[in-house]
Amino acid sequence: MNQLYLYPLWLRLWHWLNAALFLVLIATGVSLHYAGPGWLIPFSSAVPVHNTAGILLTLSWLLFVIVNPRSSNARHYRLQLRTLPGELWRQLHYYLHGIFTDAPHPFNVSARRKLNALQQLSYWGALVGLMPILILSGWGFLLSPWLPATLFGVGTIWLVAIAHLASSWLLVLFVIVHLYMITTGATPWSNLHAMLTGWHTEP
Ligand code: HEM
Repeated sequence: MNQLYLYPLWLRLWHWLNAALFLVLIATGVSLHYAGPGWLIPFSSAVPVHNTAGILLTLSWLLFVIVNPRSSNARHYRLQLRTLPGELWRQLHYYLHGIFTDAPHPFNVSARRKLNALQQLSYWGALVGLMPILILSGWGFLLSPWLPATLFGVGTIWLVAIAHLASSWLLVLFVIVHLYMITTGATPWSNLHAMLTGWHTEP
């Protein structure tokens, strides 16, 4: 068995803070959206907790986009555009078919590359595609008294709300798929073990 140290401490701390903030934001966000008596978290406490978690998520996101490209972890996010379509197809085929027939995994984790093409694309999509929309629209809500009433002839707050809701639902979808995907390593727990200890075990 080959042991590889692939998740440095700063990355694990960032990841688990990020995951905890997501859980708090989802619980308080759902409580705010469907506000009513007897909901999950009372409206009066959901507002300050959601706002504080949103500000912390902004800081944690900024930290990640500043630190990650300058760290040794950046190499795992480099897309190989020439081989990407073929790799994506092999991964998709494995998750839709091969995994149920005990076929060998089409991607081997190495010190040079720990993320397969599908992981790379989904992390790019969540971190660089959806999170900026979520964060900017969250700040739009916070700063709404200072925003113009309309933008391109449409109510600004309506645009902010649609952007915030759409990006948050898509990120909830990302988390659900992420939770399933992390169980598809060598054993259902091996990826979780790696993200907790830093060490990936290659069978
Ligand atoms: C309770 C919820 C979560 C659990 C249990 C979890 C678990 C894991 C595990 C086990 C890994 C390592 C496997 C891999 O590299 O794919 C991982 C990686 C990752 N997760 Fe999560 N995750 C959670 C929530 C989130 C959320 C909300 C995000 C938001 C963007 C996220 C983003 C990432 C990223 C970007 C990586 C790759 C980090 C890197 O190696 O550079 N995770 N997660």
